[in-house]
Amino acid sequence: MLNLNADHRTALFSNIAPYYDLSVDLLTFGFYAKFLRKAIDILAPQKGEKILDLCSGTGRVASWIAQTVGKEGEVIGMDVSKNMIEVARKRYGTLKNVIFIQKDVTEPWGYQNYFDGIFVSFSLHEISELERPRVIEQSCLALKKKGRMVIADFNPEISGRSKAFLLIFFNLFERENLTFLSFGQKEILMKVGSKRIKIFRALAGILQISLALKE
Ligand SMILES: C[S@@+](CC[C@H](N)C(=O)[O-])C[C@H]1O[C@@H](n2cnc3c(N)ncnc32)[C@H](O)[C@@H]1O
Repeated sequence: MLNLNADHRTALFSNIAPYYDLSVDLLTFGFYAKFLRKAIDILAPQKGEKILDLCSGTGRVASWIAQTVGKEGEVIGMDVSKNMIEVARKRYGTLKNVIFIQKDVTEPWGYQNYFDGIFVSFSLHEISELERPRVIEQSCLALKKKGRMVIADFNPEISGRSKAFLLIFFNLFERENLTFLSFGQKEILMKVGSKRIKIFRALAGILQISLALKE
């Protein structure tokens, strides 16, 4: 189905693909990369594990995880944007334990009980309100028993003054994704089979890292 908002956002990421990492790092004075590193620490990838980086962008996170899982491990990066995938393959294509697949993650991926861990950063909010629960459900299916998922993103359960700030930010820069600020992420994670969820917050609660452990 044609989704003009999603098409507009995909075009935006495609256009900035080669400059994405540099731009976000400069705009956030390096905080973005630090936050992603912290989220990877929380996922805690181990040698030999299979990890999926959903909506992998330029492949930077996938390349970091690849160093940790080592040559016995496997990292798959999936992103809908052809340009992002091209940048990722160009930068990290020589790494033997990573592959990048161009894929709309709202469509079936065909993995079941396969991954030890799934990582998704600053992308769940980009998925439409209708598709978000299905992407989380697919993630749960794709995880092995006792697998874990890390979602590093804006805080969908935000309240108080920080919520006012985030509402202004979303209205200015993320208008298409405003529904994320009332997304019942925790409930969905529990509904699809997480037995425990740990929450870590940053920047006055504006950002959140959720670690969901599958039963
Ligand atoms: C804000 S960027 C984040 C990239 C990366 N995860 C990071 O943290 O640096 C969002 C990414 O999600 C991708 N994306 C958005 N919707 C998608 C979808 N339906 N399927 C796959 N990728 C998608 C975009 O192409 C873009 O690369």
